[in-house]
Amino acid sequence: MQRFKDKFALITGGTNGMGFATAQQFINEGGSVIITGRSVETVNKAVEQLGERAFGIVSNAGSIKDLMNLQQEVGKYTETIDLLFANAGYGKFAPIEYIDEAFFDELFNMLVKGPFFTVQQILPFMKNGSSVIFNTSVATEISMPNFSIYSAAKSAVQSFIKTFATELTERRIRVNGISPGHIKTNIFNNTGLNPEQIDEAVQNIIPTIPFKRQGEPSEVASAVLFLASDEASYIHGAEIKIDAGISVVG
Ligand SMILES: NC(=O)c1ccc[n+]([C@@H]2O[C@H](COP(=O)([O-])OP(=O)(O)OC[C@H]3O[C@@H](n4cnc5c(N)ncnc54)[C@H](OP(=O)(O)O)[C@@H]3O)[C@@H](O)[C@H]2O)c1
Repeated sequence: MQRFKDKFALITGGTNGMGFATAQQFINEGGSVIITGRSVETVNKAVEQLGERAFGIVSNAGSIKDLMNLQQEVGKYTETIDLLFANAGYGKFAPIEYIDEAFFDELFNMLVKGPFFTVQQILPFMKNGSSVIFNTSVATEISMPNFSIYSAAKSAVQSFIKTFATELTERRIRVNGISPGHIKTNIFNNTGLNPEQIDEAVQNIIPTIPFKRQGEPSEVASAVLFLASDEASYIHGAEIKIDAGISVVG
C-alpha cells in the first residue's frame, strides 16, 4: 500500500520504539518523515536506518526553548505536515512519598507541555485533511502503584484529544489518540532500573496481559497509520486502545 505517497509526517520521539516503527511504516507507504529525539547520536542513527526520506531534529520535548524552535527547524524540510504524531516521552515511576517537584515537573514538562506546544507550533504547517495523533497510555485506565504522576500526565493528554478535536474541527484537522498497553520498547530505560531489574519487571507484567505477551511497536504503528489514513476519514476525537484488552479483560 502507498497510502502516504508525497505526504510528510512529524514524529516526536522517532528514534526508537513506537515512534521509530511508525516512521518506518510511513516511509514504506511512500511518505517522508521528520523525527525528533534528544541527542544527535540517536537522531542520526535513526535517520540513517530510515533512509533518504527521513530527516532528524534534535529537540527535547521537555524544553520550552526547543519547542519554540520546532517551527523553524521543521520549516527547513517541508511546508506541510500531514501527520503529527505527538509521541516523545518515557516513564518514571515512584511512590508518592518519593516524588519531589523536580520529578513532577520533569514528567509534566515532557508529557504535557511537550505535546501541547508541539501541536501549537506545528499547526501552521497543517492543512485541510491532516491529522494529529497523541500517544496516551493504558495507565490512564488501570490504576498502578507508583504511576501517580505518569498517569496524571497521560490523562491530561487524553483531555487534549477532546479539546483539540473541538477546536480544530473548523480547520478540518482530525485529532485522535492511541492508548498503548505494555509494548516492547525502551520505556523502562529512564527509570534507573538495571537491565536485570527491567527484565524482572517485564516478566512480572506478562502474566497480567490477556495475550501473555508484550505488544510489538509495529502493532502500534499500524493503528497510528490507520488513524492518519483516509480510511479513518470519519474518526475524530477518538482514542484507540492497543493493549490486548488488558483495560477491559483485567
Ligand atoms: N512502551 C510502553 O509500554 C508504553 C505504553 C503506553 C504509552 N507509552 C508511551 O509511548 C511513547 C513512546 O515510548 P516508547 O514506549 O516507544 O519508548 P522508547 O522506545 O523509549 O521511545 C521513546 C522515544 O521518545 C524519545 N524521547 C524520550 N524523551 C524525549 C524527550 N524529552 N524529548 C524528545 N524525545 C524524547 C526517545 O528518543 P531519544 O532517546 O533519542 O531522546 C525515543 O525516540 C511515550 O510517550 C510513552 O510514554 C509507552
